[in-house]
Amino acid sequence: MDVLPHPHTHGRRSRGGTRLRLTSALLAAAALLAGAALPAGAAPADAGAASAEARQKAPYLDPRLPVQRRVKDLLGRMTLVEKVGQMAQAERSAVSTDPEQITRLGLGSLLSGGGSTPDANTPEAWADMVDAFQEKALATRLGIPLLYGVDAVHGHSNLVGATVFPHNIGMGATRDPRLVEKAAHITATETRATGPQWSFAPCLCVVRDVRWGRTYESYGERPGLVSRMVTAVRGLQGERDRQLARPDRVLASAKHFAGDGDTVFGSSTTGGYTLDQGVTVTDRKRFEKINLAPYVPAVREHRVGSIMPSYSSVRWTDRGDGRAVKLSAHKELLTDVLKKKIGFEGFLVSDWEAIHQLPGDYADQVRASVNAGIDMFMEPFSAPRFVETLVAEVEAGRVKQSRIDDAVSRILRAKFRLGLFEQPLTDRRHIDRIGSAAHRAVAREAVAKSQVLLKNSGGALPLKSSQRIYVAGTNAHDLGNQAGGWTVTWQGQSGNDHFPGTTILDGIRRNAAHVTYSKDASAPTRGHDVGVVVVGETPYAEGVGDVGNNGHTLNLSAADRAAIDRVCGALDTCVVLDVAGRPQIVTDRLAVMDALVMSWLPGSEGEGVADVLFGHRPFTGKLPVSWPRSEDQARVDASDRDHDPLFPYGHGLTTRR
Ligand code: GLC
Repeated sequence: MDVLPHPHTHGRRSRGGTRLRLTSALLAAAALLAGAALPAGAAPADAGAASAEARQKAPYLDPRLPVQRRVKDLLGRMTLVEKVGQMAQAERSAVSTDPEQITRLGLGSLLSGGGSTPDANTPEAWADMVDAFQEKALATRLGIPLLYGVDAVHGHSNLVGATVFPHNIGMGATRDPRLVEKAAHITATETRATGPQWSFAPCLCVVRDVRWGRTYESYGERPGLVSRMVTAVRGLQGERDRQLARPDRVLASAKHFAGDGDTVFGSSTTGGYTLDQGVTVTDRKRFEKINLAPYVPAVREHRVGSIMPSYSSVRWTDRGDGRAVKLSAHKELLTDVLKKKIGFEGFLVSDWEAIHQLPGDYADQVRASVNAGIDMFMEPFSAPRFVETLVAEVEAGRVKQSRIDDAVSRILRAKFRLGLFEQPLTDRRHIDRIGSAAHRAVAREAVAKSQVLLKNSGGALPLKSSQRIYVAGTNAHDLGNQAGGWTVTWQGQSGNDHFPGTTILDGIRRNAAHVTYSKDASAPTRGHDVGVVVVGETPYAEGVGDVGNNGHTLNLSAADRAAIDRVCGALDTCVVLDVAGRPQIVTDRLAVMDALVMSWLPGSEGEGVADVLFGHRPFTGKLPVSWPRSEDQARVDASDRDHDPLFPYGHGLTTRR
């Protein structure tokens, strides 16, 4: 694969480990599992074993020294069990009942999976929770602070009260990289102020089939567009990695490396999924052009701190044995291409139990993924088993000590750059800015700029405040539906009582005096000048939303079709808005619509939609994906010259101010 040559190469010195030290490490690991007290001298012990005074003199605790020097000093002090502990990430719920496990295992990281929140889902409760876990990490022999990661993928969207931005598909429609950066910076500010120092974002997936349940997590179908939006990394981290210690920045995690959005329909073997976690069938040249492309600026221009390999697999059609190989064990792509050729110096974090999908038993899975180049393991409920298994693999010589040292060095570098050794507990100075009017104003601007005007005949839009407006449809007044998945819960949920915000109806009501709202369009339409029907999807996340799974299709629901038929059949002027994570099939009803707007998943600031409906802002959005005429036209391929969508990539009408 002719990816540009690595800008500079590193010789990595491996550290010899004596057999004796490894054996005692294995005993220590086994003791950990038994929950027994550790043998004297084994690590990790409690802080008492290493005098505080001795630690204070240790170079790794001296912020004046270069990061590389601190990493080298700390690594040289660590036992194998301590090193492997740093490579393990557990879910918060797995340690909540026994937080001492963090100290015993010397855990390197915790995460909140989608919707995994403290009982009181408030900023203070988040920060208190993360700090309590952090105290357990600081109680280890060497006091290595832990990393806490969350999916702050469209705002710190697990947190009630956070500013919830449009999902990436809408941000891609804005064609505004600076706005993407600004939104990411606000997200980083609201996230870091509540404890987590790491977000599993941005998704740099290039969606090639809108039947994919994760279409809305993509900035679009073109690698060039996705690459332009990599400014999200700078928004999260700041300039390269020099500002990571600031209280308004977090470590980013570009995901899911790579080809996650390019799998073949029907190739997934994950329960009920059809596309997600499936197989990308391609050659190296096309893979580099489409799937790899956004990772080059993420690494070289923005020094993204971590990257998450995809659940999906790649099957080469040019060279190789023709087998589909999971990215979690893909040494060629993870190490030879990403780390050596592209020059990625951050750390790779596996996806949620992704290594469990690899062939063989657990030891086979751990060995294959570590040796392929993964550095940290999202093993939400298996961290102790992971530690014991990997120590045994090193002890048996099936994983080199040098690979462990490389992985741990990458992880420690991130922790030093985040300033965690100097400020391990949450810096709460920005906690009052969460969900602020200023933050929401930026989200509202993003909503307005993400709206794509697909059709506008007879001057239907902009609306006038003097008009008598009839509003219908399942998504006119539903915050949960307009925010989509990854919002307070993993899958998201319909309804208006989960988090604060404004709906599309709220926005219309603030602009016009005479508004009738009838969700199912059962109220009389007589006497109204214009109908606005807001249709769309209910929330889903990941493969749960794959077409063909759980009854998902690209078609409008029966209720939405009925609402369009009633309102557009009764009123002279009819405007349809689609609130969904991907284009829906509207071909057979396009003729009865005077105007059609794609609103995507706008998030908490629904009134931004009214800003363009009433002409306070012009429509400027452009399609980030092609809009299919029918479901079987949902896949796009560069070689597909006779691709004939209902609306092409880049389509979007404007309205004069
Ligand atoms: C999920 C997703 C990934 C997410 C991770 C942690 O399965 O694939 O995008 O970051 O788990 O929630």
